[in-house]
Amino acid sequence: MTTVRCFSGVRPTGPLHLGNYFGALRNWVAIQATHECLFAVADWHSLTTEYADPSQLHRWSRDVVLDWLGAGIDPERSIIFLQSDVVEHAELHLLLSMITPLGWLERVPTYKELKTQLTTKDLNMYGFLGYPVLQTADIILYKAERVPVGEDQVSHIELCREIVRRFHHLYHCDIFPEPQPLLTTAPRVPGLDRRKMSKSYDNTITLHEGPDAVQKKIMPAVTDPARKRRQDPGNPDVCLIYDYHKLMSNAERQAFVNIECRRAGIGCVDCKKWLLEGMDAVLAPIRERRALWAARPDDVDALLADGARRARAIACETMREVRDAMGLARSVTRGRP
Ligand code: TRP
Ligand code: SF4
Repeated sequence: MTTVRCFSGVRPTGPLHLGNYFGALRNWVAIQATHECLFAVADWHSLTTEYADPSQLHRWSRDVVLDWLGAGIDPERSIIFLQSDVVEHAELHLLLSMITPLGWLERVPTYKELKTQLTTKDLNMYGFLGYPVLQTADIILYKAERVPVGEDQVSHIELCREIVRRFHHLYHCDIFPEPQPLLTTAPRVPGLDRRKMSKSYDNTITLHEGPDAVQKKIMPAVTDPARKRRQDPGNPDVCLIYDYHKLMSNAERQAFVNIECRRAGIGCVDCKKWLLEGMDAVLAPIRERRALWAARPDDVDALLADGARRARAIACETMREVRDAMGLARSVTRGRP
């Protein structure tokens, strides 16, 4: 039996939060059991927007790795590494840039959106336009067949498939599988203001904050705005706290809250306290495992070095084929590790 190879990455921009966990990370942990997985901290991708101030990049990359380990990504089973530790990503990105039409990149929806949204940053840069080319290199360097990502990344995977087809057509070869997004049902996770949970909205609950910090965020949170007094019946369908119960409390408690809220049988303060129990059941194991790794930075370094070594072994094989297909000198290729 051959196992299907998966690749995914995260652009480090700060500690991961519950939105990242329920949106992606939880699925990654699960698919490790059935797939051969590589997970890269895409630090070069962060530079496409953070190039003017990369001072936090190292810390953010570390945070992502610790959050992964905390959530249950298993370094024995999966390959965890930093993108910038495997320079072959840059070489393949360069080579793919030769054959990627500008028009394909200019019509990528995330490109157009981010460029109009992030007005505080000058994104009129070569690297920013090439973001999905670098992402393509990430994926096909390992000949990955599945890419577990969210809906927002599907256009990038589609572009990746187009670049693969163009490569095969131009160089009369068939080196890469055409990767497919692996879309798993992920609930939308609201942030504390009930907009999408996102670092840029400053409405997150991160994976590493302790129970006290979580409590400080939950207790003052707005519930059903129409429920002004304890004796007013509430509507859990418009309440953030109930959104979170659905994600993190057991079925019995969810049902209880759903019924009792509507007939004013419970108050919001109690409801929030029950939620905190459910949240801690999710967060405590992550936090504890994370803390164990955070206390052993040398072991994390060693793990990343090992991940990069394992990733490079695959990447170097692929690059040999790519250089060959593109007519690059064999003598150079032979001297490579
Ligand atoms: N672009 C992805 C994101 O913003 C991160 C990423 C970088 C990625 N390289 C990748 C995802 C390769 C999947 C495969 O979420
Ligand atoms: Fe929300 Fe719970 Fe209050 Fe109902 S009882 S409004 S679900 S916090």
